[in-house]
Amino acid sequence: QPSAFLSLLFLLAASEAAHGGDYSRADFPADFVFGSGTSAYQYEGAAFEDGRTPSIWDTYAYSGHSGGATGDVACDGYHKYKEDIGLMLDMHLEAFRLSISWSRLIPNGRGPINPKGLEYYNNLIDELISHGIQPHVTLHHMDLPQALDDEYGGWLSRKIVKDFVVYADTCFREFGDRVLYWTTINEANIFSVGGYDEGSSPPGHCSLPVQNNCSKGNSSIEPYIVGHNILLAHSAAVKLYKKKYKSTQNGFVGFNIYSFWFVPYTNSTEDVIATQRAKDFYIGWLVDPLIYGDYPESVKKNVGKRLPAFTKYESEQIKGSIDFIGVNHYTTLYIKDNPGNLQIDNRDFDTDIAIEIKYSQGKEIPDQYPIMPQGLYGVLEYLKQAYGDIPVYVHENGQVAQRNGTLYDKSRVEYMHAYIGSMLDAIRNGSNTRGYFHWTFLDCFELLGGYWPSFGLYYVDLDDKNLTRYPKLSAHWYSNFLKRKIASS
Ligand code: NOJ
Repeated sequence: QPSAFLSLLFLLAASEAAHGGDYSRADFPADFVFGSGTSAYQYEGAAFEDGRTPSIWDTYAYSGHSGGATGDVACDGYHKYKEDIGLMLDMHLEAFRLSISWSRLIPNGRGPINPKGLEYYNNLIDELISHGIQPHVTLHHMDLPQALDDEYGGWLSRKIVKDFVVYADTCFREFGDRVLYWTTINEANIFSVGGYDEGSSPPGHCSLPVQNNCSKGNSSIEPYIVGHNILLAHSAAVKLYKKKYKSTQNGFVGFNIYSFWFVPYTNSTEDVIATQRAKDFYIGWLVDPLIYGDYPESVKKNVGKRLPAFTKYESEQIKGSIDFIGVNHYTTLYIKDNPGNLQIDNRDFDTDIAIEIKYSQGKEIPDQYPIMPQGLYGVLEYLKQAYGDIPVYVHENGQVAQRNGTLYDKSRVEYMHAYIGSMLDAIRNGSNTRGYFHWTFLDCFELLGGYWPSFGLYYVDLDDKNLTRYPKLSAHWYSNFLKRKIASS
C-alpha cells in the first residue's frame, strides 16, 4: 500500500487534472459552510440506555432488513461524541449535521421529556459550539417513535401533526438558543416511497410483489398520504417557529429531499418528457407545495384521486414554509418512458411516473456510484430554475464502498473532488447553495445494508471494543482542502 500522504499528493495532482483544474476552500463564498453529517440511529447506539424507547427504525432493523444488523451500538456516539468532535476539529470541519432521536428525547413520542435525552443533546450541541462547529439539526431522520406507529399508524394518520409540532416545539425551546439551522424531515420523498411503497426503509410497507420482506401496505396510496401528512406537519412546525421563536432565536427551518439527477436514456421525445416527469415526482411532488402551494400538474394527473388535495387553508400554510431546501444527492439515473405501466392495476410510484429506471447505460447496477459530478450541477441548477433564489444546502453527498478495512479510499477522494468542484461551478452560475455536508463522518450503521457499506471519512473498527476510528485518505483530503482558506490565485 502506498503511504496515505504520497497517495494524497498523487490524487490531488491527478484529480485536478481530470476535473478541470484546482479550486480551494477560499473560492467559495465567505459564509459558505463545509461539514459532514450523520443521523441519530446510525451514530448513537445506546438504544436501550437512559430511557430511550424504540423507533420504527429499531423495529425495521430487528425484523432482519439489514441482514440482522442493528443500530444498538452503531458508532456509540452516545458515549464517544467528545472524541468525535475532537476529530472534527482536527479536520477543520465548520459544521456538523446531526439528528435528534425523538424517542430518546420524548420516550414513546408524547408526554414528559426524558432528562437524560435532554442532557445528551445539550452536551453534544455545547461541545460542537465550544469548538466553533455549527450544529445543523434534523428532527426526523426516518426514526419515528414506534409507539406512535403502533397507536395510530404514525405518518399515515393526521394525528401525527399534533405530536410532531409538540416535539418540534420542545427542540426549538430547549436547543434553539444555540441551533440556528433546523431541518424538519430528512428525505421526505424517500421516507414516503421507501417506507410505504418499496419497503426499503422504515417502517417497511409495500404491497407489490417484493424483494424486501416487507409488509401490510397499499403502495398505490400510502406514499401520497404520508407525503401529505409530512407537509402538514412540517408547515405547522414552521408556523409555530415563526410565531414563537423566530424573533428571538433568528434561526432557519428547512426541508430535505433526496434527489437523483435524471437524464433521458435516449434522446427520443418520450424519454425527454418522461425525464421531466421523474423530476416532478421526485423533486416537485414535495417541494412544489412548499414554494407554490400545490402539487405539480403531472403528479396530479397521473396519481388522480389517490393524491390527497390541500384545502385552501393548508395550501396557504404550506406555501412559503421553508427557509432553505436541503438536498441529498449521490447519483444519476437514466430514464426511459414506460407508458405501458399505467395499465397495471396494482400501481406503485414508478408506475405512476410511467418510467423505467436504468442505473447506467452499461452494466446494470454498479457497485460504486459512477463519478458523474455534472449530476450535482444539474440538481442545483434545476432547483434554481424551478424555485428561484431560495437557499440550498447539499445535506448529503458521498461515495459508497465495501467496508473492507482499507484506508486508501481513492474513489471517494476522486468523487469528493469532482462533486465539490461541480457545486462550485453551479454557485458560479448563480446557484444560492450555502453549504456542503459530506455523508458521512464515520463508518456507522447504514440504512441500506447495516455495516458492510461504508460512506465514512473514518473507518471504525467494529471488532475492537473501543470502536477505534482511523482516518481514511478522504479524511486527509477533506482536511487539507478545508485548511486551504487562502485563494490560490
Ligand atoms: C440517505 C440517508 O439520509 C442516510 O441515512 C443514508 O445513510 C445515506 N443516504 C446513504 O444511504
